[in-house]
Amino acid sequence: MIKFSPIYFDELDSTNTKCKLLARNGAPHGTAVIAASQTAGKGRLGRRFCSPKGSGLYCTVLIREGFDIETTSLITPCAAVAAAKAIEEVSGQAAQIKWVNDIFMGGRKLCGILTEASLPDFAVIGIGINLLNDKKNLPEELHSIVTSVEEQTGRIVTPKEMEKALLYHLSEELSQLKSKEFIPEYKKRSFLIGKEVDVHSGNDVFPAKVIGIDDNAELIISLQNGKTMTLFSGEVSVRIK
Ligand code: BTN
Repeated sequence: MIKFSPIYFDELDSTNTKCKLLARNGAPHGTAVIAASQTAGKGRLGRRFCSPKGSGLYCTVLIREGFDIETTSLITPCAAVAAAKAIEEVSGQAAQIKWVNDIFMGGRKLCGILTEASLPDFAVIGIGINLLNDKKNLPEELHSIVTSVEEQTGRIVTPKEMEKALLYHLSEELSQLKSKEFIPEYKKRSFLIGKEVDVHSGNDVFPAKVIGIDDNAELIISLQNGKTMTLFSGEVSVRIK
């Protein structure tokens, strides 16, 4: 189990950026950086993560142990199980995981995860969870795509309550990273299995049907020509049709 040591900030550009800086300066395994707001919250594939003050939990944890080069790609799926369990605990409602790094409720995204690794020394795992409705601070095009714990359940969960649940579940799940015991929980919550999707890979876009997730948390898809393909997270993104 990891004993997390949180450090709190009122505002940061990005908790991931701050945590990486602290890591390069020798911060220990288990350091957790938490900000009330972020001015440049980062998402996967160069996207932004909207992080208005008080509306969500914006948290990055530093790990130096419990993973190696082979298991680095499992960190995000493992953290996704922890985030889903934490959200379920505080909200009382089931959460699903959209491969590879998003947590969904009611068909919309309420949490994103961005892992950045500097091998072999450390990895930082950044997790953003939308707690309150704050549509006025969200770009119009995201209104129908994102949601919050409040919107889905009517519950007002504070960042502090969410932090407590998240750090507890991260500690539990990350201890199962190498043994891959978290994989069945990841599969069980899959939002994509059975869905028709468009796969975006570099400049390519192609249609597919998601048929499963394997024991390395990779996505198994069936192509229109009947062939099966396995997708590694890397630079690939999947959009539901
Ligand atoms: C995504 O949706 O693609 C991932 C979003 C990750 C957002 C979190 S918020 C806390 C941490 N700091 C960041 O800059 N990003 C992550």
